[in-house]
Amino acid sequence: MIDVKKIRPDFPMYRKGGLYKGLPLTYLDNAATTFKPECVIKAQDSYYRDFTANAHRGDYSLAHDVDVAYEGARKTVASFLNCAPEEVCFTSGDTMGLNEVCFGLAPFLKPGDEIVLSAEEHASNVLPWFVLAKRVGAKIVYAPLEDNRVTPETLSSVLTNRTKVVSLASVSNVLGYALDVEGLAKKAHEAGALFVEDGAQSVPHRLTDVKKSDVDFLIFSGHKMCGPLGIGVLYGKRKLLEKMDPLLYGGEMNGRFYEDGTFTYSDVPLKFEAGTQNIAGALGLARACQYLSEIGMESIASHERRLHDKAVSLLKQNKNILLYNEDGDTGIVTFNVKDVFAQDVASYLSSKGVFVRSGQHCAKLLNERLRCQATVRCSFYFYNDEEDVERLAEACLHAEDFLDAFFA
Ligand code: ALA
Repeated sequence: MIDVKKIRPDFPMYRKGGLYKGLPLTYLDNAATTFKPECVIKAQDSYYRDFTANAHRGDYSLAHDVDVAYEGARKTVASFLNCAPEEVCFTSGDTMGLNEVCFGLAPFLKPGDEIVLSAEEHASNVLPWFVLAKRVGAKIVYAPLEDNRVTPETLSSVLTNRTKVVSLASVSNVLGYALDVEGLAKKAHEAGALFVEDGAQSVPHRLTDVKKSDVDFLIFSGHKMCGPLGIGVLYGKRKLLEKMDPLLYGGEMNGRFYEDGTFTYSDVPLKFEAGTQNIAGALGLARACQYLSEIGMESIASHERRLHDKAVSLLKQNKNILLYNEDGDTGIVTFNVKDVFAQDVASYLSSKGVFVRSGQHCAKLLNERLRCQATVRCSFYFYNDEEDVERLAEACLHAEDFLDAFFA
């Protein structure tokens, strides 16, 4: 069980009496980004204060210390994912990692090949594939959803001998349904396709084990898991990373280059880390992985699920609320207030100190399925508590007030 009262002092954002602009700080937009604990801020800060130098470039002791810390960060992340350190490439975030994979696979695709996505994907797991498909003449195919999830069975129904890649978010950023990644990767592999997991909403909230799931690639951002902004990870099976070309070219990712235009690559993972990297971010992300492991990923997942269930049960008592994911698997609760624009609901909740996201949440293929223009999304993390849920439900109870305000 997570004791939120003990955890909150770790977070400077909660240290001002738990208030923001005089109201209890009810931050429920953790799918967008999370608060950072002091230990992560310190780990990042220590790079700037105590040992600033570039990594993998200097032969002096200060640079050596940076190399050791940077590669130590990679090892920590690798053990968080259960993979080898060489399989962890630091990126600027989920979007960058997905673009790396997508365009890295370009030489292996030919006209008529198929790429499988779903209607629940975030823009970062749709648009790169659209561009790639157009470039190589491949076709995008959508795996059907059953109870809002792609299942191994629904995936099977669209797999053909032309399927080359299946790329799915393991947890939807709008509805929070979790996929059977292991079962899906197995089906993709049986069809001869690669399986790419967009783990942006999963890695921060659930135990990750890439050996067990056997995914070929896993991509995620640090800032959604208590880590700094501007740092993320592309995990790839070593043999695939070795075959793929990177997206970015420059310093450190090459072995040699010659006047005739030829060059060699550095070994993985440096091949995918062109230019000076976000060293401070990597140290912060590694500290975040340790911090989350100390709390326990299973405890985090069950705490969020409890908050989800409580939110659903309270919101259901409100006749003005339309819920979209009552049986969601994670800490995401998505709803609308009857006859009120989602953005207006979010603004109203904000006036009560309750911070949620509204709109299409960058997953613009989903709205047609939900039959609405936009939704209100509340997303919990392990530092949220039952009082946060009660404040959300209480603020929504006054829906009539803002109905009056907007339609007067
Ligand atoms: N992808 C982030 C979200 O879903 C920004 O809110």
